[in-house]
Amino acid sequence: MKIAMLGSGFIGRFYADALLGQRSKDQITSIYSRREESARKFAEDYAVPHFTTDMLAAIQHPEVEVVCISLPNNLHEAAVLACCAAKKAVICTKPLGRNATEAKRMLEAVEQAGIFHGYLEDLVYTPKFNKALLSVQNGALGRILWAKSRETHPGPHSEWFWDKEQAGGGCMLDLGCHCVEIARSFIGKDIRPVEVMCWADTQVKPIDAEDHAIALVKYENGAIGQFEVSWTFRGGMDLRDEVMGTEGTIWINNFLRTGFEMFTTGKGADYVAEKAESNSGWLFPVGDEINDLGYNHMFTDMFHSIESQQPPRESFYDGYVVNAILDAAYKSAATKQWEPVQLDIWRGQTGVTSGKALTDYDAQYYLIKEEITHFGARKLILKDKQTGQIIEKTIN
Ligand SMILES: NC(=O)c1ccc[n+]([C@@H]2O[C@H](COP(=O)([O-])OP(=O)(O)OC[C@H]3O[C@@H](n4cnc5c(N)ncnc54)[C@H](O)[C@@H]3O)[C@@H](O)[C@H]2O)c1
Repeated sequence: MKIAMLGSGFIGRFYADALLGQRSKDQITSIYSRREESARKFAEDYAVPHFTTDMLAAIQHPEVEVVCISLPNNLHEAAVLACCAAKKAVICTKPLGRNATEAKRMLEAVEQAGIFHGYLEDLVYTPKFNKALLSVQNGALGRILWAKSRETHPGPHSEWFWDKEQAGGGCMLDLGCHCVEIARSFIGKDIRPVEVMCWADTQVKPIDAEDHAIALVKYENGAIGQFEVSWTFRGGMDLRDEVMGTEGTIWINNFLRTGFEMFTTGKGADYVAEKAESNSGWLFPVGDEINDLGYNHMFTDMFHSIESQQPPRESFYDGYVVNAILDAAYKSAATKQWEPVQLDIWRGQTGVTSGKALTDYDAQYYLIKEEITHFGARKLILKDKQTGQIIEKTIN
């Protein structure tokens, strides 16, 4: 594909490394950056033939087929609207909007323009996540009861993230958007999120937005999503997911301490991994950061989907649902109540029940559990279907 990259900063460069990595045939045809020197430097680093400080010139460049938005959160909407006007396919980094109102406008605009739209949520494309999701979809975990995701690190790398107006929020919007989509994917993206209970506070940093938050997201089928996010965590970047189902459990550690441990006095040490706080002592490098963070699989899905004229796994609709869940979380943090998720656009199932099923032991009893003890007994805990009495039975 021929790509226009909007933004030459942190994520623009990660994306470029993924897009142009290995033996990729994709090309960045135009780079837009606010400052000419940044645009020129990016063009030199990635052999981009056209650079500009005029966003429209990049989008409207005649060779450009798809526009990749890597700009601060407050600039996503204007860029999306420009892609709609130019009728160019658009892929946008997370979060889609600063809130669901913005995200909904973007979703409606791309659908009205009839252009391809992809939501760049890399953490639902990591190799470990892809494999875990397949297991969940194949029923290896049974009915999903709880899906937790955690992203914590010592805080972002540019000034605009720390400004509530430009960013739209603090760590909850910045990191919670990843976690919400991870839990939602495991629970089922067609299952409606109904309400949110959230604690959020500014515990450390001198900012208006929250730097630490924990929330529960209740789904219509009775499953519960949970996220833990922070910009005050010390020790690197912690990306972990846990899924619990009636038949199994998954724990995923995507980044910190994944089996590569290194000690150095610091001599010759340089970059270790994103948000690593140290480059001496015991370190936890990441083997292939671009791949392990999901960027390769994400772009493969996006470009295959464009070529085959299919929707990608993550579209602006998903970005909108994520923003709506986070809006409810912000409201709950303020009211200290469960707050409903306001979804004016919902395309999944409705009226789903919990699907709870009781396990028969025999005509008289339900099975609660079975266990073999350390002294060799097989114990059964049973519930009488008529009286409700709970008994135990030992079989040797
Ligand atoms: N894992 C991920 O998916 C991930 C990781 C980091 C950032 N992001 C997202 O990517 C986007 C950009 O974040 P980043 O980390 O690259 O930020 P950054 O500050 O490193 O880069 C932002 C880019 O936008 C440009 N820019 C800044 N202010 C501008 C303005 N007023 N007008 C025009 N251009 C402006 C900067 O010059 C720079 O090129 C954000 O939406 C962020 O949430 C996603």
